[in-house]
Amino acid sequence: MPFVGRERELRLLAGTLNQPPVVVLVEGEAGVGKTRLLHELIGHPLLIGNCHPMRFPYGPIVEALRDANPPGGLNPVTGALRPLLPEYAHLLPPAPDPLQDPLAERHRLFRAVLSLLEALRPVTLVVEDLHWIDADTRLLLPFLTRCLPEAVNLVLTYRPEDVCFPVAALLAQLPPHVNHAELALAPLDAEETALLAKHLLRDPPDLWPMTRGLPFAIVELARMLAEGRTAGTPPALRDAVLLRMDELPVLARRLVQAAAVLEEPACERSLAAVAGVPAEQAERGLAEAVRRGLLTRCPDGLYGLRQPLARQAVYDSITPTVRRRLHRRIDTPAQPQGTLSPREEQVRRLAATGLTNREIAESLFLSPRTVEVHVANALRKLGLTSRRQLRGTT
Ligand SMILES: Nc1ncnc2c1ncn2[C@@H]1O[C@H](COP(=O)(O)OP(=O)(O)OP(=O)(O)O)[C@@H](O)[C@H]1O
Ligand SMILES: [Mg+2]
Repeated sequence: MPFVGRERELRLLAGTLNQPPVVVLVEGEAGVGKTRLLHELIGHPLLIGNCHPMRFPYGPIVEALRDANPPGGLNPVTGALRPLLPEYAHLLPPAPDPLQDPLAERHRLFRAVLSLLEALRPVTLVVEDLHWIDADTRLLLPFLTRCLPEAVNLVLTYRPEDVCFPVAALLAQLPPHVNHAELALAPLDAEETALLAKHLLRDPPDLWPMTRGLPFAIVELARMLAEGRTAGTPPALRDAVLLRMDELPVLARRLVQAAAVLEEPACERSLAAVAGVPAEQAERGLAEAVRRGLLTRCPDGLYGLRQPLARQAVYDSITPTVRRRLHRRIDTPAQPQGTLSPREEQVRRLAATGLTNREIAESLFLSPRTVEVHVANALRKLGLTSRRQLRGTT
């Protein structure tokens, strides 16, 4: 599949890896292209291992090292890796005698990994998806970074919304001889999105509004369109979103559902009212949904789903009864008396940007008459006399 954009990031990554020993952090939301970027690196010997949701002990290290081609004359300590690397145990020195102390055993294993990397240099060890790191690799990484040998690099990738590994502390504890760099990948821009769509489809529609430049969404949406399906969410994307929803605490999940029903970004109070979540718990629920990458907080303080396709997936997953209840709450006047209902709040916000009633009606799929009533109610409750006074209200 053709690769689009990312010239700056590739240059930066390649340039950094040319100055070993270096630790590089590559962060970006799910599907933004961390893995793909690494695969586009040419001329850098990489050993890539993935952390796995099952969190297998030393999973990413075993995965990376089992593809190595170890030279002869290895340090005897590397014999400690025999049980973990049966693929080429015969090429490793004999396994050393077991030690009584498990901590000493672990230290010897750490030294064995270091020594094998030293023997394989120049090399870059890539540990992907740190958000699923296992307990043993979690201890090994700070050990490796503190004694990273000449001509050995370490690249770590992760989703910031999921990561539970202290990446900042890792960098803070690097010895002076180890360089470091951080790369944060953003979605593609509209032009790059169109370019990728052109590679994937013969006569592509504009995929930017639905994907907001997330490569995974572009690829999956294009696949769906190529199969002749024009409605709904691409299955792979839907599954990823719903899995993420399942992992959310129930209050946060309800707030995300409310955001999906409201369609347009909404304030904390509106979301709490529609979700039926007590106002005092809404802040925590929203923070959790933002941290887990489902909701985004816009610069104006409003919350919405990050991805239009994710919004659709969440909306489709809500049962008809709950969906009806959420829709009903949108039009229910909020307590205490005098404050705007979520729908009135939505209408007020759009009116404040200068949209006409007809434009607001089209944007929210309401009749112009309904919008008129909401505007009148909003003016009355806010003590205003003309909709011109709404301009500039936040
Ligand atoms: N710049 C790009 N040009 C073309 N395709 C891309 C680009 N970046 C990513 N892709 C494609 O988008 C999809 C998702 O990318 P990738 O798997 O690299 O994301 P990721 O950030 O590693 O996600 P995850 O956090 O789930 O591991 C893949 O099919 C990949 O080939
Ligand atoms: Mg990846």
